[in-house]
Parts: sequence; C-alpha cells; structure tokens
Amino acid sequence: MEPRPDPAFDSVRTFCLGVLQRGDLASKLAPPLAAGGAPLPDREPGPALCVARPARDAGLELVDGSEKLPRLGALTRADARAVCLRRFAHHELMAVELFAWALLRWPTAPPALRRGWVGALADEQRHCALYLERLAACGETLADGPLGDYFWRHVPAIDAHPQGPRAFLCAMGLTLEQANLDFSLRFRDGFARAGDAESAAVCQQVHDDELGHVRLAARWLALLAGSQVDSVSAYEHAVPFPLSAARAKGRAFDAAARRRAGLDDAFIEHVRRARPRA
Ligand SMILES: [Fe+2]
Ligand SMILES: [Fe+2]
Repeated sequence: MEPRPDPAFDSVRTFCLGVLQRGDLASKLAPPLAAGGAPLPDREPGPALCVARPARDAGLELVDGSEKLPRLGALTRADARAVCLRRFAHHELMAVELFAWALLRWPTAPPALRRGWVGALADEQRHCALYLERLAACGETLADGPLGDYFWRHVPAIDAHPQGPRAFLCAMGLTLEQANLDFSLRFRDGFARAGDAESAAVCQQVHDDELGHVRLAARWLALLAGSQVDSVSAYEHAVPFPLSAARAKGRAFDAAARRRAGLDDAFIEHVRRARPRA
C-alpha cells in the first residue's frame, strides 16, 4: 500500500516528532508532505531537541547489537534472503529516524541543508518500503526477527560532539552511507547470482540514491568547514568515535562510485587506505 501523508503533520518539526515519538511503522513511513502533496513548511523549526531513543511499537523494539549476515552464497535460500532484507529494511528505517533526529537537533542549520535532510529522509522511507516488499515476498515482516540498534548507538557521540551538524554529516553521510555505496552493490550482485532479480534491483536503486546522500554530506561538510580546510581534515576533525574512515567502506572498494558522489581524490584515497583503530 502506498504510504500517504499524515494530516497531523503540518510542519517539518511535527513530522519529525511523529517519526520519533510514534512507534508504528505507518507513521514512520508517511511522506514529509502536506495533504495536497506540497513539501511541509519549515518556518518554525522550534527549539533544539535531542530524542535519545525512538518510540517503537511491539515487534519493532530495538535490541543490542546484531548477528552476522548470511554468506552471499546462501542467498538462494529464502530464509537467508529474509535475514538480509530485514536487516537492510531496518537500516533504512533507522536512517529515516536519524534524519528526523538531526532535523530536531539542529533547528538553526542552514535551511538548504535542512531541505536536503528532508529529501534524504523521504528517500530512506522509500528504500525501507522497497526492502519490506521484498521481505514480504519471502513471507516475513520486520517483526519476525531481532532489530539491532547499530545506528542509534552512535547518537550520543554525535549529539555530544562539538562539531554539531558536521559530526552528523561525517557519521551518517560520509561513513555509514559511504560504506553503503559498497555494500549495496555487493548484495545487488549476491541477490542477482541467487536468481532474485527484484531484490538486486532494489539494491541498485538504493545505491543510486545513496550517491546523492553522500554528495549532500560532502558538499555541506565543505561549506560548513570553510575553504581553508581540506576534506580529509574536515572529516577527521568531525567524525564521532568509534566511527572512522575505516568504517566508511565495504570489502570491495568502489572508487568510481565515490567520484560520482563528488568525493575528491585525496578523501577517496584516505578512506581506501584506512585501517581500523588499534
Ligand atoms: Fe537508504
Ligand atoms: Fe541514504
């Protein structure tokens, strides 16, 4: 079923509060639009607010940590595909919540950056719905397995970081989403090899949109850091521990995708060479 705008949401702020304070999936996936389809106004973003944890209805509760994903070779089995699709759908749901979190946390961020965040949030909602459709094709839902809190575990460090929105851009856009440029293609190929062309197509769609999300983060980090600061220094100065450049990639490093996302050569090389901190 196509998600519809919720008439109770009449501004970006009330929308974000709804995403975080309502526990049901429909509220979290309602697009950030007025009833007539226009973008929600953002004239009164309100006081800064840090929502520590999102509301989650029964079946959608967050749990600590997460188990390893099945090997790509196992994706011929519906149960293994379901484990992956549930994980990916939930990553998208957490991305929805984290963009809502950032919009509430930094009401005085530049309006154009806030519009970018709303646009990315809407993409994450679509991605979540696409993965949920594929999960349903395996006969399962989000509630049929544990939902790890991986993204939310980074929120206290982002919130406390002196670099404010820059820490969010580095954590979300330039680490987690940059890494997904690699992961999405790895699983696209895994699903395709297993004969699941539909799931492969969703991974490709997510990858294509992720280019725009990484580009948004890179552009705004450069703007906020100022022209005197190079991209590597700007990132290293603002990325919240324990995230780091070593976490901004998957096993197969796709430099071309990073260039398409607008990352410069020095930053791409920095991430390519990065090793986990001791
Ligand atoms: Fe996404
Ligand atoms: Fe994204």
